[in-house]
Amino acid sequence: NPPNLQMGEGSVLERSSCRAKGGAPGFKVAILGAAGGIGQPLAMLMKMNPLVSVLHLYDVVNAPGVTADISHMDTGAVVRGFLGQSELEAALTGMDLVIIPAGIPRKPGMTRDDLFKINAGIVRTLCEGIAKCCPNAIVNLISNPVNSTVPIAAEVFKKAGTYDPKKLLGVTSLDVVRANTFVAEVLGLDPREVDVPVVGGHAGVTILPLLSQVKPPCSFTQEETEYLTKRIQDGGTEVVEAKKGAGSATLSMAYAAVKFADACLKGLRGDAGVVACAFVASQVTELPFFASKVRLGRTGAEEVYQLGPLNEYERIGLVKAKKELAESIQKGVSFIRN
Ligand code: NAD
Ligand code: LMR
Repeated sequence: NPPNLQMGEGSVLERSSCRAKGGAPGFKVAILGAAGGIGQPLAMLMKMNPLVSVLHLYDVVNAPGVTADISHMDTGAVVRGFLGQSELEAALTGMDLVIIPAGIPRKPGMTRDDLFKINAGIVRTLCEGIAKCCPNAIVNLISNPVNSTVPIAAEVFKKAGTYDPKKLLGVTSLDVVRANTFVAEVLGLDPREVDVPVVGGHAGVTILPLLSQVKPPCSFTQEETEYLTKRIQDGGTEVVEAKKGAGSATLSMAYAAVKFADACLKGLRGDAGVVACAFVASQVTELPFFASKVRLGRTGAEEVYQLGPLNEYERIGLVKAKKELAESIQKGVSFIRN
């Protein structure tokens, strides 16, 4: 057989729960922006995921090269590449999960909101494709500013008449991954034993770690609380500055995205008790979108959990987070409505 490079090829594996070459049941996953800094390691890690039977790699550049490379890995998933707008529909048709890391990253001195101008349009186009070709897919949206791109996606889906709030998830798992790492460092624990809920959104003060709810139960001094909160909120900037203009977090993001995508696939499979933080349509606060713990099931985010008891420091943080979030959400909504 030739390598799986047939760009936009029609598929014999169109069923939701199809079988890959090796015979294992699995899901069909598309990555949009697959040739980028996040996209490439994300594609590699998804090719290693036994829950994936078909992996579609879409980008406006270099998709054939990345596809050729990834397709040589001796794991079960069949890989196909799709290059450019004319192949977007073929890339999306029949997908169960679509992961979107397409768009430009920050350089030092920029905020995530500075990416809005370019990334808002990219996300709109990609979501129009999803509404047309795989309206029932779960969408994991990574492109920044997440606090605005998720509302943009929701408005696109509403316009198309396909919006299902349970299926649209802004990816905030990197905040949790960072919080687990930094908290474990302070406590002298293995990060794999630590679970820190991070709520709110994905930018600056909207990133609100709930240190009073860390598992295993522990307590922090005021100095530790301030250090940890700031380090978690500024984690992205720490990487942007260290990379000196060469982009933002890609490897830790690919890891965090795969952790979250795997949770979504386990939910789709029907596993019980799959819980992760994500930025979703929410009634937890007065805002229409908010990040908190959600339970992932066969239809997406089936339950959005309340925040639980907050201490005084977190209550003050919540007020600040909501103020900035409200503006970012409105900016995204207006981009499509006006
Ligand atoms: P990158 O520039 O390395 O890669 C982006 C890729 O998107 C490129 O390959 C580019 O060709 C592709 N692309 C551009 N326009 C496209 C379109 N219309 N359709 C499909 N693909 C398109 O950037 P990166 O480092 O991979 O970051 C990607 C995005 O993810 C940025 O917006 C960044 O801010 C964001 N990000 C989010 C998080 C998070 O926690 N949610 C973490 C890190 C980065
Ligand atoms: C991150 O948190 O690393 C990403 O949102 C990228 C960025 O611009 O900080």
